[in-house]
Amino acid sequence: MIKNNPVLELKGLQKIFFPGTVNQRHILKNIDLKVYPGEFISIIGNNGAGKSTLINAIAGALKVDKGEIEILGQTITKTNIRKRANWIARVFQDPKLGTADQLSVYENMVLADDKQLSDYFKGYDNTKKRTQFASRLAALDMGIEAHIDTPVKYLSGGQRQALSLLMAIIRKPQLLLLDEHTAALDPKTSQTVMELTAQLIEQERLTALMITHDIDDALAYGNRLIMVQDGQIKLDVQGAEKAHLLKADLIKMFAI
Ligand SMILES: Nc1ncnc2c1ncn2[C@@H]1O[C@H](COP(=O)(O)OP(=O)(O)OP(=O)(O)O)[C@@H](O)[C@H]1O
Ligand SMILES: [Mg+2]
Repeated sequence: MIKNNPVLELKGLQKIFFPGTVNQRHILKNIDLKVYPGEFISIIGNNGAGKSTLINAIAGALKVDKGEIEILGQTITKTNIRKRANWIARVFQDPKLGTADQLSVYENMVLADDKQLSDYFKGYDNTKKRTQFASRLAALDMGIEAHIDTPVKYLSGGQRQALSLLMAIIRKPQLLLLDEHTAALDPKTSQTVMELTAQLIEQERLTALMITHDIDDALAYGNRLIMVQDGQIKLDVQGAEKAHLLKADLIKMFAI
């Protein structure tokens, strides 16, 4: 069987914070990883393990000290965050980070859909786009389509996070990065947004990395599970091996 080329490849990634000082912290220790098209990977690991640092390094929010990052075979290690946004989309824990407060749902979606419009989008109205957006919002089944002209600040956290997700994927990114994107929501809304996430990833055939502290979600969703511990990949399982993993075993691994 011919295996597709990886969407993302990390080669020997290293990150040291405050190098050469008493506060020196080696956070990413030689991380190697290949992520193939259509993979949906859950990333778990204890607080401070280096999960967000890893995602930030991939997104370009953080410079690495050593190693290479490739997207579709192209080295992007020195490419800035703005350029990387052509391939990589992110959703954060805080629903406020993914959307612009004062702008309406429609305006937020226009910006996400076409970054070129950012300079003159005020007053931009396009019936075709509006209809398209409304139907995509309706498909989320979160009641957002009824508020398409409402400033985003009036949406609930769950609606806002669902909108962030839709905005993140609207241009079909090569890679979707989710950093505890359901953690700030109440349990029921969190589950709704989680299911929506899995549905959108499958429908749009996206490749995604999702950090979560919810072991049940990490086990239930995605094809592969990675545990990061002390800046290293401690566990990397997929398929049947992942399916047979038990929550108790994973929790035990946290303690080691
Ligand atoms: N910009 C930074 N400067 C200095 N230290 C940092 C920086 N970002 C993260 N760290 C430190 O690196 C370590 C790893 O942080 P990181 O945010 O990657 O952990 P995490 O695995 O995402 O944890 P959590 O589950 O709590 O979100 C932490 O000790 C953190 O304080
Ligand atoms: Mg984190």
